[in-house]
Amino acid sequence: MSSSTNITWHDSEVTKQERQKQKEHKSAVLWFTGLSGSGKSTISSALEKKLYEEGIHTYRLDGDNVRHGLNKNLGFSPEDRTENIRRIGEVGRLMTDAGLLTLTAFISPYREDRDSVRELLEEGEFIEVYVKCGLKACEERDPKGLYKKARSGEIKGFTGIDAPYEEPEHPELTVETDTQSLEESVEQIIDYLKKEKYLR
Ligand code: PPS
Repeated sequence: MSSSTNITWHDSEVTKQERQKQKEHKSAVLWFTGLSGSGKSTISSALEKKLYEEGIHTYRLDGDNVRHGLNKNLGFSPEDRTENIRRIGEVGRLMTDAGLLTLTAFISPYREDRDSVRELLEEGEFIEVYVKCGLKACEERDPKGLYKKARSGEIKGFTGIDAPYEEPEHPELTVETDTQSLEESVEQIIDYLKKEKYLR
């Protein structure tokens, strides 16, 4: 991929801090990571609804949706997954600058890729939420029938089957979806956001 040359960064007249003040909540990226079928989309959707009802300006980026547009030229090779996460990280950074609380739901299987997004953002702007669920439970749920296809060899390089998932080592939050209810997971995240003063 070629890099641009002869370009200059222009600062805006309105700062991130000013945008946050107007919205009365901090901007950050809530980064959900976990196996396919672990509950990333379900939890982030339910959480977004609750936050929206409390007047928080949110936006949700979801693997399946983003791969229909911005990232439709990417597949599931390790390189493409890395590029997928890099682009989402950049979008998350722009949205954070715009003063939004962004929720992202991507498998994001590689620790290094997630850490790169953390580095892209400022201290406290990256909240890693590990949606923890055993492979067995995810496979039993198999909401899209993809594990079945992966087991039969119809899909190659499926996360958890024949492609890796690297668990977060120090996530800000872990929700355990094979033991917690959806409501409990959402409450746990909201409590954290209040305790850490993301929400006023
Ligand atoms: S990644 O690894 O972060 O780039 O993946 P992501 O963008 O989140 O996309 C994951 C969804 O794509 C479907 N899918 C696959 N997942 C994993 N491995 C392979 N090979 C694959 N092929 C298609 C699957 O529906 C994932 O959705 P979720 O919501 O995670 O179940």
